[in-house]
Amino acid sequence: MPATRLDGKQIALEIRGEVARDVQQYVAAGHAPPKLAAVLVGEDPASQVYVRNKERACAKAGIASRLDRMPATTTPDELLERIDSLNQDESVNGILVQLPLPAAPAGQPALDERTVLDAVDPIKDVDAFSPINVGLLMQGRPRFLPCTPHGIVQMLHRSKIETAGKHVVVVGRSEIVGKPMAMMLAQKDGSCGPETANATVTLAHSRTGNLAEVCRSADILIAAVGRPEMIRGDMIRPGAVVVDVGINRVGDRLVGDVAFAEAEQVAAAITPVPGGVGPLTIAMLLHNTLLAAKLQAGDCSIG
Ligand SMILES: NC(=O)c1ccc[n+]([C@@H]2O[C@H](COP(=O)([O-])OP(=O)(O)OC[C@H]3O[C@@H](n4cnc5c(N)ncnc54)[C@H](OP(=O)(O)O)[C@@H]3O)[C@@H](O)[C@H]2O)c1
Repeated sequence: MPATRLDGKQIALEIRGEVARDVQQYVAAGHAPPKLAAVLVGEDPASQVYVRNKERACAKAGIASRLDRMPATTTPDELLERIDSLNQDESVNGILVQLPLPAAPAGQPALDERTVLDAVDPIKDVDAFSPINVGLLMQGRPRFLPCTPHGIVQMLHRSKIETAGKHVVVVGRSEIVGKPMAMMLAQKDGSCGPETANATVTLAHSRTGNLAEVCRSADILIAAVGRPEMIRGDMIRPGAVVVDVGINRVGDRLVGDVAFAEAEQVAAAITPVPGGVGPLTIAMLLHNTLLAAKLQAGDCSIG
């Protein structure tokens, strides 16, 4: 029997509806609508689409947004100045810098991602990339959870997929997906999402020996690699849950890191690409923007 498809679109809509209702209540209590500022440097077409989608999603949830477009010729100082002014601007609750940053023109210093992300005030860091927010997550008392892994946790929970006592294999150790994903699922209690923790986690990467065997030992396999269809059907244990984070353009198609047609014959449940993890990332960004506004208004204390 083919695997159950985990419908990320539907779960994301549910979460977005919840955020919109919370925003309404927040505004009804006398607050200004939460506001997200997106900084987009350069003209990367995919980044422009991502930012536009985020703006639309904000509008639908009653969240205000502003887009700061900066040319690809922006210097590091100019970008840091812009972030500083957004940090100081009390009307802005959340700041995101759209990645990747463009390469610097010849003769100009490069825009260093780490330096730029570190400059965002941790209380406005809705992507949860700052060392403070990463540290709080590590300690099991997160303030903001990074959007993609948080979306996956929500999807597992809302699909009634238990992680406690399960072996989760995460393939990919990026700062934005793999590492925080592993950390969230390994937490002792529900601090990183209701009842979604207490897993035994293996974090695999390009230097992992016998990746196929490691993957086959997973009850839940999460692929965040960026290589089209590299996880084949024979790398999946029959009855496993497969979460495909990858978004890879192959010709005019978007494909994941998992060979879907093979995997769905083996797995018990699987996320499609597109329509799986992607929509959840934006939903959790909205959640974080409202949380940022509440924290700044002193409405809730976390961390
Ligand atoms: N759905 C969403 O909202 C969303 C959000 C973010 C990213 N993504 C997608 O998710 C994918 C991963 O993104 P990312 O930013 O996490 O990736 P990344 O920073 O490029 O990291 C890729 C990871 O995969 C590992 N890797 C590469 N080749 C491998 C191999 N042959 N075997 C095992 N591991 C291998 C790398 O290992 P090393 O560390 O050893 O190099 C690295 O840890 C991309 O397709 C991206 O577009 C989707």
